[in-house]
This record gives sequence, C-alpha cells and structure tokens, in this order.
Amino acid sequence: MNQTLELIHNRKSIRAYKDTAIPEAEKEMIIQAALRAPTAGNLMLYSILDITEQSLKERLAETCDNQTFIARAPLLLIFLADYQRWYDHFLASGIPELCRERGQPMRHPQEGDLLLACCDALIAAQNAVIAAESLGIGSCYIGDIMENYEIHRELLHLPAYVFPITMLCFGYPTEQQIRRKRTERLDREFIVFENSYKRFTGEDFDRMEQSMPAKYRGSSGNAGRQVYFQKFSASFALEMNRSVKKMLENWSGQ
Ligand SMILES: Cc1cc2nc3c(=O)[nH]c(=O)nc-3n(C[C@H](O)[C@H](O)[C@H](O)COP(=O)(O)O)c2cc1C
Repeated sequence: MNQTLELIHNRKSIRAYKDTAIPEAEKEMIIQAALRAPTAGNLMLYSILDITEQSLKERLAETCDNQTFIARAPLLLIFLADYQRWYDHFLASGIPELCRERGQPMRHPQEGDLLLACCDALIAAQNAVIAAESLGIGSCYIGDIMENYEIHRELLHLPAYVFPITMLCFGYPTEQQIRRKRTERLDREFIVFENSYKRFTGEDFDRMEQSMPAKYRGSSGNAGRQVYFQKFSASFALEMNRSVKKMLENWSGQ
C-alpha cells in the first residue's frame, strides 16, 4: 500500500481529543484541502462555518443529540449546502428583470439543486478529514447537525437556501483513541455489484448476518432488528426527518 491508501485504511473516527489547540497553519491546510475538492460545475455550492465561540460549541453539543465531546473539539467546522450565494448573485445580476423581459419565470433552487449542493459540501468535508488525518489530527462527522433545523437556522443565521448537511469535529487523538481498533466493515460482496443493483434474499441476509461484526447484531442478536430499533426508528432519526421536512418546506416553498 502507498501512504495515501494506508492513511485511508487506518483512519477511524476520533471522539476524544488531547487538550492541544490546532495551530493556525494546520487549520488553514485542512480548510484549503476542503476548498480543492471536486465541485459540481466548479460552482462550490457550499460554505464552511468555523465555530470558534466556546458557548456556541456547547450549544451545538446540546442540539446535536447531546454529544458532549463536540464542545471539547479544538476545531469545529460546519459544512453548509449553499445555493444562497449563487441565488443572491442571480438577483444582484438582474436575473429577475431579464427573465421578465424574456417572458420566462425565474427558477428558484429546488430539491435537485439541494442534493447537488449536499454532494459538494460532503465531498469538501471528506477532503478536510483526509487532510487532517495526514497531519495527525483526528476527526468525527456529526450527522445530527441535520436535526433541529429551526434552532440551527436561528443560531447560525442561515437563509432559506442554506442547509447544514454535516459538522466535523477535529482534534489530536488521545492515546486511548490511537490504540483503539478501527471499526470493521461489511464485506465487499454485500456492497459492490456489477452493472445492476442486486436485491437481497433471506439467504443473502443470513449470510450477511453471519459475516457481520458482532457489534452490528447487538443485544437482539440480529442486525435488522438492532438497526431498526437502535438507529432507524430512534428518537434522533425521527427528529432528523422532522427537521429535514421543515427545511424542505423552506427550500422549495420560496
Ligand atoms: C454522515 C455521518 C454522520 C455521522 N454522525 C455521527 C455522529 O453524530 N456522532 C458520532 O459520534 N459519529 C458520527 N459519525 C461517525 C460514524 O459513527 C463512524 O464513521 C462509523 O461508526 C464508522 O467508524 P469509523 O469512522 O471509525 O470507521 C458519522 C459519520 C457519518 C459519515
């Protein structure tokens, strides 16, 4: 394996950080790596919020399912899917008037635009993860930033065409985190198909269950039941879906 592949294969999410600040030069390298990520049409349909106020970190730790380690992350970046910047640029460029002259309705950002912006933001985020890893800085995604849309909108001053699709905590890993074994993954055969999608039969699921790390099966001894009750229908998942519906009303209802 080359160094890049080794880095990718050995990375693990880090949720406990040394009490060491991330030097400005390192932070800048992480941000610059994010900005070099591939982006749809080179439009950079995202913005990055660098959360530096401790009180705001603490509030986000609460609103993101009470994950206290968030407040202890020396660096906290929120990746925003962002069509507002371009939309405002359209307005500033006289597009409403031009559309009127041409007898065309002006198009507003819709669901497809949102998904494209989410792709951009997430790809930039993963570049930041890999750049940080190469500097010995660990990271952890926080999907719960998609919850509590109304609270986050107010807290972070988000306009209608901006949605926080993910948050990243960064920090130097503690010794215990360095020693911790990386998590396992499902086998390739359950994830990678050739040419067309494969739906699984009961036998496939039996094989998959047997090949899974025990952690997936949890106390119920079956991953389907475990994931359904502990993740898919857990309160955070219900809140995330409520929150995203609210955001969509705002995004596509303009
Ligand atoms: C979209 C996304 C959202 C995540 N949200 C959280 C989160 O809110 N809290 C957390 O502790 N880990 C979160 N994680 C980290 C995953 O739990 C972690 O990647 C997974 O368990 C595999 O472990 P590994 O990254 O160490 O290989 C998230 C990861 C992704 C990709």
